[in-house]
Amino acid sequence: MAEVVIVPDRAAAGALIAEEIAALIARRPDAVLGLATGSTPLPVYEALRSRLAGVDVSRVRAFALDEYVGLDPAHPESYRSVIAREVVEPLGLDPDRIRVPDGTLDGIEHHGEDYEAAIAAAGGVDLQILGIGTDGHIGFNEPGSSFASRTRVKTLTRQTRADNARFFPSIDDVPRHCITQGLGTILDARHLVLLAFGERKAAAVAGAVEGAVTASLPGSAIQLHPHVTVVIDEPAASRLAHADYYREAFAGKPEWQGL
Ligand code: F6R
Repeated sequence: MAEVVIVPDRAAAGALIAEEIAALIARRPDAVLGLATGSTPLPVYEALRSRLAGVDVSRVRAFALDEYVGLDPAHPESYRSVIAREVVEPLGLDPDRIRVPDGTLDGIEHHGEDYEAAIAAAGGVDLQILGIGTDGHIGFNEPGSSFASRTRVKTLTRQTRADNARFFPSIDDVPRHCITQGLGTILDARHLVLLAFGERKAAAVAGAVEGAVTASLPGSAIQLHPHVTVVIDEPAASRLAHADYYREAFAGKPEWQGL
C-alpha cells in the first residue's frame, strides 16, 4: 500500500520531499531523479533551492516524464524549457546530465526507444516525482494506457488540454500529442512520490490510492509498486475513506523508517 502523508499545505509537501531528495543525493551523489512538470512539483523545486544550497549536485542526473510533440523546444512552455527554468538553472544542475523526451517531429518514431535506452543506461530512476491529472493520468498516460507501456507518443484528452490551457493563449494552442514515459517505465523507478493539491484532484487521488487497479485510472498503477509516498493537502485528501488511518500511521511512524 502507498504511504499517504496529509500535509497542511504545499510548502510542507515541498519541504518534506526536498529533505528526502537531499538525503538521497547525500547517499548517492550521482542519484537519478525523475522530474514532473506542471504546477504540482513546484513547491518541491522551490524548497530544493535552499535545501541544496552548498551541496555538490554536479553529478546528479535526471529524466523528465514527458514533453509535448511538435512544440518548438525553445517555446517557453515546452517541458524542456520548463525543466531548464524551474529545476536545472535554479538548482545549478549540469544540463548535460538532464534529459527530457524529444518531442521534435523529425525521427519521433525512435525517440521513445532512445529515451528508454538512456534511462536504462543510467541504471534506472531512484526517485520519481509525479503529479496526477484530474482525469487520473500520471505522466501523460491518459485513461486506457497499458500498465506495461513504455515511452511513446500519446494523444492528450480534451480534459488535459483544457487543464493545461492556462499555460497557453487558448486551448487551441495546447498541443494534441505528447511523448511520455509509459506506466511500465514509471513503475520501474525505485521510489515513487506522488503529490496532489486542491479539491480538483480529490477524485483522482481517491481513485489512485483506494480505487480499483484499472487502466481507466492510470494513477491506480501506483498500487502495484512496493515503495510509494503520496503527499497531499487536506482538500486533495477529502475523498479518501481511510484518511484518519493514514494520519495515525504517519504520526506513529518510527523515524528510522524514513519515507
Ligand atoms: C507533467 C505530468 C502530468 C502532471 C499532471 C498534473 O510532467 O506528467 O502528469 O503532473 O497533468 O498537472 P498539474 O501539476 O499542473 O496539476
